Amino acid sequence: MTAKASVSLPIGVFDSGVGGLTVLKALRERLPHEPLIYLGDTARLPYGTKSAAAVSAYALEAAKALVSVGIKALVVADNTSSAHALDALRAEFPGLPVLGVVEPGAQAAGHASPRGKIMVIATESTVRAGTYPRSILHSRPGASVSQLACPLFVSMAEEGMVDGPIAMQVARHYLANAFLDPEPLERADCLLLGCTHFPAFLPLLRQLLGPNVAIVDSATTTARAVEDLLENRAISAPKQTVPAPVRYFATDAPERFARVAAVFVPWAIDPAEVNIIDLVHQ
Ligand code: DGL
Repeated sequence: MTAKASVSLPIGVFDSGVGGLTVLKALRERLPHEPLIYLGDTARLPYGTKSAAAVSAYALEAAKALVSVGIKALVVADNTSSAHALDALRAEFPGLPVLGVVEPGAQAAGHASPRGKIMVIATESTVRAGTYPRSILHSRPGASVSQLACPLFVSMAEEGMVDGPIAMQVARHYLANAFLDPEPLERADCLLLGCTHFPAFLPLLRQLLGPNVAIVDSATTTARAVEDLLENRAISAPKQTVPAPVRYFATDAPERFARVAAVFVPWAIDPAEVNIIDLVHQ
């Protein structure tokens, strides 16, 4: 595919479910002129509790489906797939630019952390992969990086429980050891949100941690990286005043997709807009 031929194609955005809409939203804000196709593998989520092998196999199937629809770049919005499957995806689709959320988030955290004491919160499977600490240490050698799986945040976000006393208590439970209890100089100074769902808790986390902790959300940093990638490859869509279309695909439950989407994006999605796709028998 020549660069010229691919300019008008959409960017494919893939996630295990609906949380990746945080990445879609960030892309929409930064690149409103780029057409987008979002695919959520709602039949098989969560990925965050699954093995590396299962996550990689699922990610390859999802990418194959998006490639067959026609995309000019693939954004792996799902942190768990980004942590496990990026090399496999790049090897399988050599001509396709593939960008995950881990590297942009890790680099941003490396820059944002005043003293290099960084905590990554993510799913269990992302934590197990160790990709975030490796990537952070690459951009900030000598940083002290800790990780914590925060599975409750995933289900709470999907229930819309992103503020209020219960959410605050859960956030305190997860984060007090790193950010609140130790002596000030021993505390972590940067929190990296390494899961699609966690940007939904930003206001609450800011309230809990105060203004001196840097909070890095891989969704926004990824949107910036996508813009650079498109420019470097000369495949950016022409800027226009009317926003480009967004198409939604899911592997199951379009009503739930549309309902839970309301937690992550400020616009309404009609279940009828969500096309059901079969990734297994393609
Ligand atoms: N999308 C996943 C992630 O960012 C969270 C939800 C899941 O476990 O599938 O890691």
